[in-house]
Amino acid sequence: MSPRTRRTSIADVARRAGVSVGTVSNVLNRPDRVSPTTRERVEAAIAELSFVRNGSARQLRAGRITTVGAIVLDISNPFFTDVTRGIEERLTADDYTLMVASSDREPEREARYLRLFEEHGVRGVMVVPTGESIDHLLAVRERGIGVVLLDHPSPVDSVSSVAVDDVLGGALATRHLLDQGHTRIAFLNGTHSIRQCADRLEGARRALADAGRDPDAALVEVTVPLDANGGETGIRALLEADDRPTAVFCVNDLVALGALRTLRRAGVSVPDDVALVGYDDVTFAAELATPLTSVRQPRHELGARAADMMLRGTDAPAEHVVFKPELVVRESSTTRAP
Ligand code: RIB
Repeated sequence: MSPRTRRTSIADVARRAGVSVGTVSNVLNRPDRVSPTTRERVEAAIAELSFVRNGSARQLRAGRITTVGAIVLDISNPFFTDVTRGIEERLTADDYTLMVASSDREPEREARYLRLFEEHGVRGVMVVPTGESIDHLLAVRERGIGVVLLDHPSPVDSVSSVAVDDVLGGALATRHLLDQGHTRIAFLNGTHSIRQCADRLEGARRALADAGRDPDAALVEVTVPLDANGGETGIRALLEADDRPTAVFCVNDLVALGALRTLRRAGVSVPDDVALVGYDDVTFAAELATPLTSVRQPRHELGARAADMMLRGTDAPAEHVVFKPELVVRESSTTRAP
């Protein structure tokens, strides 16, 4: 049998036993809190996987390096809130604590928080990069601090990363609107300097081209801020346009929320007059008066996987995970174009 490429983690045991990582941690540290049947299941998984506690992690804990930093683009976006929750639950299972900050997509803020976290002596940092270059993160790693890229594929093999295929996500949304009969689609998008925005646009354009449509003619891109006000700004611009598209794809659910609110105030029916699709499928998407069709990202899993990579330590081989998004169709896009 070929040697395992990476150390069995507490998450592997949890998956094998069908319990949370917190339960596995309790079996290891506070067995009295776990029912006998669950404890036996976990112990069987530990034996099957020959799991051995991460001694270096425990030593680091003894050395009190038990804090990890995370820098996301905007913690007020429910997407990042859910990702952060996934990170926190995974870290807590190993008695680590989490410090979180928002870069607001500003490289200077990202750099400042990196410095602050380093001064705090964090074990490592998980970062949604604000730009394409990660040279500054490689320098942090050179100083012995773990680095995991969050919601961003890694441009170098040596740095672990967790991302979602946003090109596929943009294509799924656009293909769905084409299937509903829409031939002219607005895309309320962020600036292309944000990788997620550029990739979703690329996916939308590929779907149009694959359908034999001219992306330049069929897609009306409007650049907006990545929040509900951005959705309002984008819709106001579209409502004033002569040849109004019959469908709107929004780069995330916050933009879609603002778009829906503005369309409704303008007396425009969703989906009868304008179909609407969001991205992230955050909790509120299904709860809206007009439930929102959205491209679901595995938010909690994305965070937990990044934390798992962090806890394996800087000596472990780098891992690159790209999750696939899925389209969740709801009322906001399900009547055929006029
Ligand atoms: O930050 C912009 C978007 O990128 C978020 O809404 C989420 O979709 C992330 O992937």
